[in-house]
Amino acid sequence: MLSLTNKRILLGITGGIAAYKSAELCRLLIKAGAEVRVVMTRAATEFITPLTMQALSGNRVHLELLDTEAEAAMGHIELARWADLVLVAPATADFLARMTQSQADDILTTLILATPATIAIAPAMNQGMWADAGVQDNVGKLAERGYHILGPGSGDQACGDVGLGRMLEPEQIVTACAELSPVGLLAGRHFVITGGPTREAIDPVRYISNHSSGKMAYALAAEAAAAGARVTLISGPVNLPCPDRVRRIDVVSAQDMYQAVMAEVDQADVFVGVAAVADYRPEQIASEKIKKHDDAMQIKLVRNPDIISAVAELDKRPLVVGFAAETENLIANAENKLSKKRLDLLFANDAASTFNSDSIAVTAVSKSGNNAIEPGSKSAVARAMLAMIAEQLKA
Ligand code: C5P
Repeated sequence: MLSLTNKRILLGITGGIAAYKSAELCRLLIKAGAEVRVVMTRAATEFITPLTMQALSGNRVHLELLDTEAEAAMGHIELARWADLVLVAPATADFLARMTQSQADDILTTLILATPATIAIAPAMNQGMWADAGVQDNVGKLAERGYHILGPGSGDQACGDVGLGRMLEPEQIVTACAELSPVGLLAGRHFVITGGPTREAIDPVRYISNHSSGKMAYALAAEAAAAGARVTLISGPVNLPCPDRVRRIDVVSAQDMYQAVMAEVDQADVFVGVAAVADYRPEQIASEKIKKHDDAMQIKLVRNPDIISAVAELDKRPLVVGFAAETENLIANAENKLSKKRLDLLFANDAASTFNSDSIAVTAVSKSGNNAIEPGSKSAVARAMLAMIAEQLKA
């Protein structure tokens, strides 16, 4: 089955007997990677319960246009904007007629009028109804408007008839949805990305850390997800919201980050170490706040695990991509790091001008040579980096 990773699908269910298959359809869409929200017409609720669809989709089902509580949570216009694809399955003859008239008499028809998303409908009805000239007229008009008509299929019908009018099987509908969805550069790939600083505790109130803002890692995570990848972002403490469609695991110290990475990375196609991991941590963490006594104090620091090197040493290693923020001898240090840490690709940047900035200038360093990426916003540079990563994945 094709991938629907990160696709947002609004599943509309109208009132026909095939609605019992919408439950399986919802499950398969999610299994293919989509996020699904369900809208049901009142008639649909006679065939399948909203509770079933809520449990399967993991989201509250939208039923009424004029429900103040539901509108406050996610209004119908917001829902219309949220979707990449609106899929109506099953689509009854009545729904087709109302849509042809551009009626907005329930939440489903209203949001379809409002949505900029691709619209696909899977008609399902008795074969005689499907053959009706008016129904055929309506389907033709909707197809002309750009609606994708999926099916119907032919065969036994719930009413005992045999003929054209059965809803396509859920598997066929999922495949059609995948074919309608633009394939991202990184469709179906799994990225594990570390980002932000780590904090190494000295005592209950003090720690050692660095100036990393997490902006580069968050931009990479957001752009990878937008390109169709499944993204797990393992983040040190930063003040940034989790990007859409990204799963974030929060950690504090380098040791926490190491453990989180090792628990996640065996599923990954790509590991990107963007985090500014503290190289050392205090050997002892004082259990009480340390009091000042002398003019000087000493804290013994011990080495932290090198996370990216540990990933690169795994038997089943993903593509390993590192960063090097340097204050001197940028390229020489980066080349050295590439081979010492056994990385596939490394992005080198000047530490002083990068930390906390919204823009960045980097040079890509790999065994096949060095390439300066055009400087720009961290999002634009992230897209260029991902294009290079996609090339390496292909190779
Ligand atoms: O050695 P240096 O810290 O300059 O290397 C930078 C690269 O190594 C980055 O990709 C960073 O995320 C990673 N790193 C790591 N674990 C460490 C130190 C650095 O994964 N303990």
